Formats: sequence, C-alpha cells, structure tokens
Amino acid sequence: MLGLDAHKENKQLNQLVRTVLKSSKYRNVCDELIKNIGMRELSKQQNLKTAIKSTKNKLHQIGGAYFLEKAKYQLWLEKLRSAKNSGNEDLFRDASAEIMSYHSSTRERLNILDQFYDRIFSLLPPVHSIMDVACGFHPLSIPWMPLSDTVEYYAYDVYKDLIGFLNDFMGMTNVQGYAETRDVVQHAPEKKADLAFILNTIPCLEQIEKSAGLKVLNSINANFLVVSFPVRSLCGREKAMRKHYETRFNQLTKEKDWSIQRLEFSTELVFLITRKEGASHE
Ligand SMILES: C[S@@+](CC[C@H](N)C(=O)[O-])C[C@H]1O[C@@H](n2cnc3c(N)ncnc32)[C@H](O)[C@@H]1O
Repeated sequence: MLGLDAHKENKQLNQLVRTVLKSSKYRNVCDELIKNIGMRELSKQQNLKTAIKSTKNKLHQIGGAYFLEKAKYQLWLEKLRSAKNSGNEDLFRDASAEIMSYHSSTRERLNILDQFYDRIFSLLPPVHSIMDVACGFHPLSIPWMPLSDTVEYYAYDVYKDLIGFLNDFMGMTNVQGYAETRDVVQHAPEKKADLAFILNTIPCLEQIEKSAGLKVLNSINANFLVVSFPVRSLCGREKAMRKHYETRFNQLTKEKDWSIQRLEFSTELVFLITRKEGASHE
C-alpha cells in the first residue's frame, strides 16, 4: 500500500502528465518521458503549477525547440509518395531535404549531406544494421546513405506522430526495419546493430540528467558509434562550442578502451567510436 505522501505525489504526477498531454505541442510526447521529467520537477518546484510549467520548458529544450514549423506529416507524406511514384529519385531526395529543413538539427546538416555519409561510411566495413538513437528527422537522410537493400534500420524518438511518419517514410526507401517511440535514456533499445547514430543528442539528454549521455553510450549495443555535437556559427562562437563539446566527449570516453576517430564538418563535430570486437561495451 502506498503511504499518504507517496499517494499524494503519485496523484500530482498523474495530474501533471495529463495536463502536459493536453497541450497541442506535447500531446504526442511519450508518457514515460513526461513522467520522468515531471517527477524531477515536482521534487524541485514549489507546487504543481510551477512543476507543470518547468516540465514544459524542459520538453521544449530537448525536443520542441527543434521544430521550425508545425509538422504537417500528412501533407509531407503525400509529397513524398508523389515524388516516389514519379520514379525520379532526385525528386524524392528533394522532398526529403525540404522536410529536413523544418527541423533545425537536420537543417544544419543539409549542406554537408553528401560528404557526411561518404566520409563516415568510407571508414566502416559493410554495415548490415543501423540504430538511429533520438533520431529526430535524421532517417529522412537515408537516401543519401550508401546502404544495400538488406540493411536493417531502427530509429527511436519520443514523438509518437513523428514515429508514425518515419515508419511510412522508411516504407518508401530501400531499408528494412522500423521506427519506434522510446525514451532511450530510461529504456535503451534491446537491439544489437553494426552501427549506431547518436547525432547532436547528448547535450539534449544531459539537460534532464547529467549522467544520461554516458548512460546512452554504455547501453547502446553496436560495434561502431557515430556521435556528434552541433557547432553553430552564430557570433563567431563556433570555436568555443567545438572546444566545449570536445572536452565533454573526452570526459565521457576517458576511461573507455575504445578507438576514436575525430571528423570535422562545418556544422558538426563527429566522433567515430570503434569498440573492440567481442569486448563488452560497458
Ligand atoms: C537535437 S535533436 C537531434 C535529432 C537527430 N539525431 C539529428 O541529429 O538530426 C534531439 C532529438 O532527441 C530527441 N530526444 C530527446 N530526449 C529523448 C529521449 N529521452 N529519448 C529519445 N529521444 C529523445 C528529441 O525529440 C529530438 O528529436
């Protein structure tokens, strides 16, 4: 039986989750993430009202802020289908690129898409399976990746409507696999893959829990990890950001027996991690 205090806390948490889910901006976020953030905020804030407000702020920081306009998944799917049906792969890529421009993380990558995957995949043996961790709109880049028709691709994020859209999108590409709604910090994917993309995501996850970056690096079961950090060119702060994130990455990996290659792109700092064959990833 729950004690009185625990019962009250539980009631408040349920109320917080229900209220947050009522807002149009967050109604598609998976409950487990709202619950996790809500619990932390309830313990820090003075009352339910301020805890609801700060939970929404956190959700904005880790996900909402990246949407540059309201997602129009139905319309985007129609555009993609029409491009696909035309048989012209360039039109399909153009439609994918346009959609990626509505999410700031993929938007920043648009100008470097070709070199991005060429450089990364040239350093890898043939890849048969990929995990895309906290994927955002990144699976829309699949048409730029040098993948065979048998590659399995698994993508995870916390927005249910985005995940539905990505499943329809992936059905139009040459990969097998699926997208799944999942809080990757609380519930690491059980899959094992050759390669995992963890792009521009660690700083986001660490805003909720400082240990989340390390937790994800430890729990993802892949031989190769591509971990990246954003480098914005606003006000010449680019150099400082690179340095800051490089220091953070070095802290996260300093005790690991991993081989690491550093790749610089104009908008992103990338680390390719190779784990020793057969060695534990912890
Ligand atoms: C900066 S965006 C990066 C998106 C993508 N990886 C890219 O580089 O284009 C961060 C993404 O992490 C997702 N996210 C945040 N917290 C998460 C969590 N706990 N589990 C899964 N995804 C999460 C957000 O919804 C958002 O799509």
